[in-house]
Amino acid sequence: MKLFLAPLEGVSDCAFRTLCYNHGADLTFTEMIRVDSLVRQNKATLALLDLKNNVPTGIQLLAIKPASAQEFVKMFPSFDFVRAPEQINLNCGCPSPDVIRQGGGAALVKRVQRLQELITIFRKLSLPVTLKIRLGLNSYEKKHNVYLNLIKNVDADAFIVHARDARQSSKEKADWSVFEECIATGKNIIPNGDISEKEHLAHFRQLGVKEVMIGRAAVRNPSVFAYLKGKERVSIANLREEYHLLCKEYPNNLKYKENVLSYLGKEEGIHSRKWLM
Ligand SMILES: Cc1cc2nc3c(=O)[nH]c(=O)nc-3n(C[C@H](O)[C@H](O)[C@H](O)COP(=O)(O)O)c2cc1C
Repeated sequence: MKLFLAPLEGVSDCAFRTLCYNHGADLTFTEMIRVDSLVRQNKATLALLDLKNNVPTGIQLLAIKPASAQEFVKMFPSFDFVRAPEQINLNCGCPSPDVIRQGGGAALVKRVQRLQELITIFRKLSLPVTLKIRLGLNSYEKKHNVYLNLIKNVDADAFIVHARDARQSSKEKADWSVFEECIATGKNIIPNGDISEKEHLAHFRQLGVKEVMIGRAAVRNPSVFAYLKGKERVSIANLREEYHLLCKEYPNNLKYKENVLSYLGKEEGIHSRKWLM
């Protein structure tokens, strides 16, 4: 089973992604990067494209307007990556009211035509284009299977399914019962939400899943990937030391370092107003 590190705003920069890769993550993701800001050459946003080493990384984009997506495709050859990204992942799950008001993030789950338009544009980069979706904006959309409609009708290389709707906080359990139907579509489904233990992987293996994505469990202990592959967990003290060194090698915004160091080893308390409302 391949294990992916989830996109994590304020956390998953180059140093943290490297830490997770060193401890067994097969693929990592940047945090969500706004295409509109990239094409405006916003410096802070451009800095998020920090593919500075040889770690397999997907770029997660918040794309809403096809015109900005076209601009991004034109700009793409000018980006300075040590290793080409493994894929472009489009965010269809951000629960931020601002993003949703603009028709992006979780609002895209029911905008099948727009999503297909965006995917066609990003495919010009000759990279796989995947989606990371929630189950809809709210329980009503979930009940009406908007996520299944999307999976059936959109042609993407994979669908990472975070099994919550956009109103749900991460304190509510992810609803794994949706995965069977998702997988029955025959599309490439990558489960996400509350995955942290070997028996969780066993459950998904039984369903025929080959890849899962892990978020908060990796923030608590980045060696969760190695642990799930049968190795011992690494101590928090050793992980801290390694992370300090990686931050020197891949200098980052101090906010990331503070976040990661405050979350490491904590069972609870990974706070992000936007993602865990
Ligand atoms: C601090 C934090 C930041 C996040 N940032 C992003 C992000 O940038 N893009 C995204 O698609 N999801 C983001 N998420 C959601 C996670 O990628 C993931 O879908 C969610 O945490 C559920 O997985 P988990 O139960 O394994 O943590 C974020 C979550 C947290 C806790």
